[in-house]
Amino acid sequence: MTDHTDTATANGATGAPLWLLAELTYRCPLQCSYCSNPLDFAAVKQELTTAEWIEVLTQARAMGAVQLGFSGGEPLVRKDLETLVAEARRLGFYTNLITSALGLDEARIHALRDAGLDHIQISLQASDPDVAAAVAGSAKAHAKKLAMARAVKEAGYPMVLNVVLHRHNIDQLDTIIALCDDLGADAVELANCQIYGWAHLNRAGLLPSQAQLEAAEATTQRWRQRLAERGRDMRLLFVVPDYYADRPKACMGGWGSIFMTVAPDGAVLPCHSARMLPMDFPNARERPLQEIWYDSAAFNRYRGDDWMQEPCRSCDERHKDVGGCRCQAYMLTGDPAATDPVCDLSPDHHLIEAARREAADDGRSAQALTLRNARESQVFCRA
Ligand code: SF4
Ligand code: FES
Repeated sequence: MTDHTDTATANGATGAPLWLLAELTYRCPLQCSYCSNPLDFAAVKQELTTAEWIEVLTQARAMGAVQLGFSGGEPLVRKDLETLVAEARRLGFYTNLITSALGLDEARIHALRDAGLDHIQISLQASDPDVAAAVAGSAKAHAKKLAMARAVKEAGYPMVLNVVLHRHNIDQLDTIIALCDDLGADAVELANCQIYGWAHLNRAGLLPSQAQLEAAEATTQRWRQRLAERGRDMRLLFVVPDYYADRPKACMGGWGSIFMTVAPDGAVLPCHSARMLPMDFPNARERPLQEIWYDSAAFNRYRGDDWMQEPCRSCDERHKDVGGCRCQAYMLTGDPAATDPVCDLSPDHHLIEAARREAADDGRSAQALTLRNARESQVFCRA
C-alpha cells in the first residue's frame, strides 16, 4: 500500500483522520423520533463481524486516528462490545461509548471498565417520564437511564449526560437541569435537536420556536450562575440548533478532514448522515481505509474549495465554515454542493426562515411524531 500520509500532510492537502466513529449497529431498543440514523436503516442487514471491526480499528489507528466513538443504534446491543473496547485500548485509542444505557447493568459497566473504556455518555430524553416515553417510544427506559447514570458514576466514571432538546421538552429545561444536578452529573450537553435522518422527517413536530430557544438559553445561563454560587462543578454545554444560526457550522471540521464514520455494514462515510447523499460510498470490506480516505472519489468530492458554488466560492469565510453541511444542503435544496441554507448569504436561506416561521406556530406541538422503527423504515428502503 502507498504511504500517503507524509506527502499529503507535507503539501498541505489531506491530514490523517483523527476521529473514528464506529457505528456498530443500527439496532436499538428505543425508537427516538429525532434519531439521526438514515431513514432506510432497515436495509442494512450484514453488520461487520468482530474480526472485521478489529481490522477497521487496526487500520484506522495505523493511519493516526486517536479518538474512537462507539455508537449506533445502540452499541450495547453488540455482545462483542467489550472485546472491541479491549482491542481499541490495546491499539491506543481514547474510547467513548455513546449510549442510551438500555442494555447496561452494573456487571457490564465493570466489564467495560476492565476492558479499558475511557468514557461513557448517556442520553436522557426529558425530566418528565411521560414526555420521555412519548419521544423514545418506551415507558421503561427513563428509570433505567437514571439508575445507570448513577451506576456509571459509582464505577468511577464522570457522569456525562446528553439531553436532546426539541419543542416537546425544551420548556422543561429548568427541571431537566435540576434532575441532572440531583443525579450528580459532572457535565450535561443540552444539544438542541439537529435536523437529520428521522428528525428531518419529524421536523415540524420537533423544531422549537425562537421564543422557546431564547427562554432555554436564559434558563441555562441562570443555572450556570446558580451552580457557580454553590461551587457545584457541573458543566452545561448549550448547543444551538443550526436553524437558528445565521452562519453554518464547519460540519465535521470539513468533509474528509479529520472525521471518518464506519457504518454497521462497513460503509465508510465522511459523516454519520452522508449515506443519504446521491453518491456511492466505499466499503471497508472491499478497500483499505487508507485508500478510501486519501483516494476515493467520495472522500475527495467536497475537500478543499474547488467544488464550491457562489456565494461560497468568493466568500472570505469559506475556509472558516467550508460552506457548511453537505447533508443539510442536500436535504433542503436537493443539491449537495449548494451553500448550506443556514447561511444568511445563501439564496436558499428563505427555506430556513420559513421553517422558523412555521415553528413559531404553537399548534405545531400537537403534530404527531413518527417514531423510528423498522416497519416505517422499509417504506424508505423501497423509495
Ligand atoms: Fe460560509 Fe458560504 Fe456563507 Fe460564506 S457564503 S459564510 S463560505 S456558507
Ligand atoms: Fe453530513 Fe454535515 S452531517 S456533511
